[in-house]
Amino acid sequence: MHHSVRVALGERSYEVEIGPDLLSHAGARFAPLLARPQVAVLTDDTVAGLHLEALREGLAAGGIDMVSLSLPPGEATKTWPHLERAVEWLLSQKVERRDVVVALGGGVIGDLAGFATAILRRGVRFVQIPTSLLAQVDSSVGGKTGINSTQGKNLIGAFHQPSLVLADTSVLGTLAPRDLLAGYGEVVKYGLLGDAEFFAWLETQGPRLASGDMAARVQAVARSVQMKAEIVSRDETEQGDRALLNLGHTFCHALEAATGYSDRLLHGEGVAIGCALAFELSARLGLCPQEDPSRVRAHLREMGMKTDLRDIEGDLPSAETLVDLMAQDKKVVDGQLRFILAHGIGQAFVTSDVPREVVLDVLRDAS
Ligand code: GLY
Repeated sequence: MHHSVRVALGERSYEVEIGPDLLSHAGARFAPLLARPQVAVLTDDTVAGLHLEALREGLAAGGIDMVSLSLPPGEATKTWPHLERAVEWLLSQKVERRDVVVALGGGVIGDLAGFATAILRRGVRFVQIPTSLLAQVDSSVGGKTGINSTQGKNLIGAFHQPSLVLADTSVLGTLAPRDLLAGYGEVVKYGLLGDAEFFAWLETQGPRLASGDMAARVQAVARSVQMKAEIVSRDETEQGDRALLNLGHTFCHALEAATGYSDRLLHGEGVAIGCALAFELSARLGLCPQEDPSRVRAHLREMGMKTDLRDIEGDLPSAETLVDLMAQDKKVVDGQLRFILAHGIGQAFVTSDVPREVVLDVLRDAS
């Protein structure tokens, strides 16, 4: 049931290992990377309570010692004070350039630890052990690292590729159903952006995945990572194709800003709504078959996910304000809003050529 996907980036290539019970074999997986048998782990309090001992035992089985620093869980940790704390702690632990730091956690820990190691001693290697579905299929792969600014999410950061990613699908069993489904929003995104067959597979296997079927989980994570690896290998720093990974994200970022990055809307939930809206927009512009948006929505609904603005609890700003929020996205180029639209399921493309009025109509009809 194990898969290994290579992210091909020349000298910075690495493997993403996917399957159950990888934590217990961490020692053997780490050994080839280490100059001395010790690692420093950055994690958060929730994940530490659930998985840190399993990692300690897995490393100890390979004769590797570990020290760890646990930060508070949540997006507020992706800020300067916690980055400073992490970097100072790594220095106090005498982590050297030849050492390896481990990010054990979801996207917040992965992004922060990745950035901490990018700047520590001008670059130290790190290993991602993503513990959320979202981190396993998206944020742990591809080397985007960073923290948030008061002016926006992920505005401070660096590209710093990990040396190894261990996506242990057993740990997904401890996720709250809402968090698992939010991560599933990113899984669906891969089918929608580039693999119609994968989307059709998800239509039949998604419910099994959600209810805990390990084979379905491994398969979904592996296919998602394979697609991400291919795109990142082609376009590491997002000069072109990598933007396809932002399908649904232009809408999502505006909705996240409108809901104050709170529990009202998790990132993956926003991505799912954003994907449904991107297909609606594509259909209205005559770019994709009229039935595609309904098919996307039907699958998300069957999975028990949000698909429209009206599914978000509480009031939202007007469609005009949402479009203005989209214009603040960091991916805006020369003031032009960029959208990822589709010619059909599995056929996404990037465009700036979208009339504001049509976007407003789509948002109004989803409210
Ligand atoms: N999450 C989008 C990317 O890694 O490019």
